[in-house]
Amino acid sequence: MIYVRDLRHSYVGQTVLDLPALDVEDGEHLLLLGASGSGKTTLLHILAGLLRPTEGMVAVDDRDLTAMSEADRDRWRGANVGVVFQRLHLFETLTVAQNLALAQRLATGSTHPARTSELLSRLDVAGKADAYPASLSTGQRQRVVIARAVGHRPSLLLADEPTASLDDDRAQTVADLLVREATAVGATLVVATHDRRIADRFDRVLAL
Ligand SMILES: Nc1ncnc2c1ncn2[C@@H]1O[C@H](COP(=O)(O)OP(=O)(O)OP(=O)(O)O)[C@@H](O)[C@H]1O
Ligand SMILES: [Mg+2]
Repeated sequence: MIYVRDLRHSYVGQTVLDLPALDVEDGEHLLLLGASGSGKTTLLHILAGLLRPTEGMVAVDDRDLTAMSEADRDRWRGANVGVVFQRLHLFETLTVAQNLALAQRLATGSTHPARTSELLSRLDVAGKADAYPASLSTGQRQRVVIARAVGHRPSLLLADEPTASLDDDRAQTVADLLVREATAVGATLVVATHDRRIADRFDRVLAL
């Protein structure tokens, strides 16, 4: 579960995030809704252990992220968190299957080819396993990034603006995929967006 108390974050002296309390239950699907500049990406980066907040307490599954070193947070994230960033980063010189394998190796120390095949099928990109990212459509790339994020069965799945540039149908499809894959691995899901269209897919909506 996620436990946040008295969280504040400032960049160069200006407070951009002020969150007195947030509790997210194991397996809950939470949507963080807020306008541009409301601090959504900042909060996701704090929950991922990428950024240490200026003040306050953030614990995930009883690990106090604010008390951990950056190296410990990196290790913890690799093993326990899946992240879908707004920009759909893949290693362009590796095939789709190799991208998933690399993420698995970083998270668990070994690769899991059966898991890769299963995920690519679940996300309807099995035919692209040996293709390079440059040859994917945007929707296919997005599904590969989601497959990679859940490949090591993270306990926490984070996604930043996954639907911002999509039409209505594709936005719902991506929201449904994130919820379905989080449910499949039992992960807590936190999605940050300004996109109200997908709010009804989530257990809870928090306005930032
Ligand atoms: N590295 C940084 N240095 C200084 N200010 C920053 C930095 N990153 C973000 N900010 C500022 O912090 C505020 C919150 O930014 P953040 O990216 O968290 O917002 P957001 O809700 O994700 O916005 P968007 O919907 O546009 O992605 C903004 O005013 C932004 O300009
Ligand atoms: Mg953002």
